[in-house]
Amino acid sequence: VVQLANSEFINRVKHHFDIVVVGGINSDFLGKCKRLPSPGETVQGTEFYSGPGGKGANQAVAAARLGARVALIGRVGDDDRGRALVAGLKREGVFTKFIAEERNQPSGAALVMVDESAEKQILALPGANSRVSARDIQRAKELFANCRVVLMQFEAPLPAATAAARLGKQFGAQVVLDPAPPAARVPENLFRLLDVIRPNANEAEALTGIRVKDRASARKSGRALLNRGVKAAIVSAGSEGDLLVTRDDEAFFPRLRVKSVDATGAGDAFAGALAVGLAEGKPLLEACRLANACAALKTTKLGAQTGLPTRAEVRKFIRGRLAASAGS
Ligand SMILES: Nc1ncnc2c1ncn2[C@@H]1O[C@H](COP(=O)(O)OP(=O)(O)OP(=O)(O)O)[C@@H](O)[C@H]1O
Ligand SMILES: [Mg+2]
Repeated sequence: VVQLANSEFINRVKHHFDIVVVGGINSDFLGKCKRLPSPGETVQGTEFYSGPGGKGANQAVAAARLGARVALIGRVGDDDRGRALVAGLKREGVFTKFIAEERNQPSGAALVMVDESAEKQILALPGANSRVSARDIQRAKELFANCRVVLMQFEAPLPAATAAARLGKQFGAQVVLDPAPPAARVPENLFRLLDVIRPNANEAEALTGIRVKDRASARKSGRALLNRGVKAAIVSAGSEGDLLVTRDDEAFFPRLRVKSVDATGAGDAFAGALAVGLAEGKPLLEACRLANACAALKTTKLGAQTGLPTRAEVRKFIRGRLAASAGS
């Protein structure tokens, strides 16, 4: 009965998307300094950068720049920053009809300080993002009806992420979770809805209690996630690379060597590109390869969102790597 209702619903839907992203939309304010200030202290900084950010927005733009049809569900404040953030997403080709304006909270913001050694300190102010609800997801049901991949993070509250995962499954989409920022208590029923989870080392530890520092501990942590019902886990094993773990297989993706200048948003580039690969019907292994290349390329440019690569750039980069390895 549910299937019949869904297929009828699908026929009535106007828009078709490859990927539906549910997540945070922020402005990033970043200052560089020789060393981070201690509590109560003021230090002189060296460089200021401001631009669009938020994991939901970054991942949506990452996927759109790779050529996917992407819709983003979220909330911004009823303020100039919010309107500029939505206008920026539109320019990137992201469908923004289901980004609501929240009257009682400002648009989300992140205050980032980075020192000489690239150590950072971040104050995240979710604002309007904290009001994204399961009802927002229901209201955007038409987006899910024909999409291939649903992509979420924890910058939108858990009930919204869970509702999105459930709706994605109901319509036969693949569900991908980037569990950031690390959440302490994740309901067990969410894991069972996930096709892919992509934690970095800290997030893997928060979810499994296993300290991830190398390939072996990444494997252990990935297996623990599989035991909770996730179909595949891609665990970032620190600076070594990423480990893909499934029930009967495993693959390692070493970090690609590039001239890195800014690693912020590299994880978002990975998640967005992974979703694109899966939406295009690529096997998980191939989608990971695309994601790894996209993440490495992102680190060669400044800005979590502005520095995301296009499809043409990623293609050229992969071709260059293949040519180099054939020549050596
Ligand atoms: N210096 C680098 N050179 C090449 N690739 C990198 C570099 N730094 C990160 N990456 C790639 O970026 C991806 C994500 O890195 P990481 O695990 O650090 O993300 P994260 O901590 O979740 O960051 P984010 O805040 O963007 O989510 C990985 O696939 C990794 O290989
Ligand atoms: Mg991340």
